Amino acid sequence: MNIYEKLQAIHEKTMTYFNQAKTREELYQFKVQVLGKSGDLTEVMKEMAKLSKEEKPLFGKKVNEVKQSLESAHDLCFEKLKKQEIMAKMEAEYLDLTLPATAQAVGSPHPVYMVMEEIVNILSRLGYSIRLGPSIESDYYNFEALNIPKNHPARDMQDTFFIDDTHVLRTHTSPIQIHSLEKEELPLRIIGTGPVFRCDSDISHLPNFHQIEGMCVDKKISMADLKGTISFFVKEYFGSDLKTRFRPSFFPFTEPSAEVDCQCPLCKGKGCSLCKQTGWIEIGGAGLMNPRVFEAAKIKYPEWTGFAFGFGLERMAVIKYGIPDVRLLPENNLSFLKQF
Ligand code: PHE
Repeated sequence: MNIYEKLQAIHEKTMTYFNQAKTREELYQFKVQVLGKSGDLTEVMKEMAKLSKEEKPLFGKKVNEVKQSLESAHDLCFEKLKKQEIMAKMEAEYLDLTLPATAQAVGSPHPVYMVMEEIVNILSRLGYSIRLGPSIESDYYNFEALNIPKNHPARDMQDTFFIDDTHVLRTHTSPIQIHSLEKEELPLRIIGTGPVFRCDSDISHLPNFHQIEGMCVDKKISMADLKGTISFFVKEYFGSDLKTRFRPSFFPFTEPSAEVDCQCPLCKGKGCSLCKQTGWIEIGGAGLMNPRVFEAAKIKYPEWTGFAFGFGLERMAVIKYGIPDVRLLPENNLSFLKQF
């Protein structure tokens, strides 16, 4: 093979290599092999010494032509491979923005809070507004100011969780009454609501449940105002055709006191399993403000009079939605909660 043929062979072989290169890295290796410092072309150039004076420039020109042809072939292949690599990368990292997104589980209000909100809405139409209070109360606010002195048997009505000698987890929302009576100006219409705690647990009792209570303090408030308010509430909340009845009862902080029943919303008073065939369901307690509570809060009686009533929120939810076991409410099982 003469030197021209060698040059021709290098040219052809390299063109094939370049076209076959699969990556820019491979292409670079081929380029170094041929056009590099100790590459094939350099080797052929060394043989130029054997040529005659006249032939040398002619051959030199040829070498340059081959070099240029290879360089531009290399550049074309380089661009082609670069594009291919980018396309491959785009293909591999392809993001299909039209795919439906994975659904996020969305939360919803807890039935107890839905009931709370509904009751607050009903009572707010009678001019009541909401008050909250601390879950840990002093013995004074939870008991004493509400006319439940130490060692009084009335304390047994509320199995209490004690924090220390003088503090308890509040057993009812009635301490909120005292906070409002101490701080706020009369007349007052407030709703106290939130979690309460009792050392008690069975199919119809939870150790941590929620109460809502109303207190109205104004001039010349009577049992009739209380009855009217609760009747309005029952009709709005359970159904416009349901009656309310009071049974005499006892709470240390109200006098007189009553248990409040409403006609069973399920059977409308006919008798069913929810109301144990009586047609009535107990929904809470109520009564006129006991003057001893006013005295503790330094409010003048009989210049000011008032009433209070309290319901258990879980019980309100159980009755309204026919929930078979009150313990389903704090369980937070999503398939149960999603029904509301
Ligand atoms: N605090 C009472 C209880 O938890 C309920 C109640 C509230 C009764 C207001 C009368 C007036 O049992």
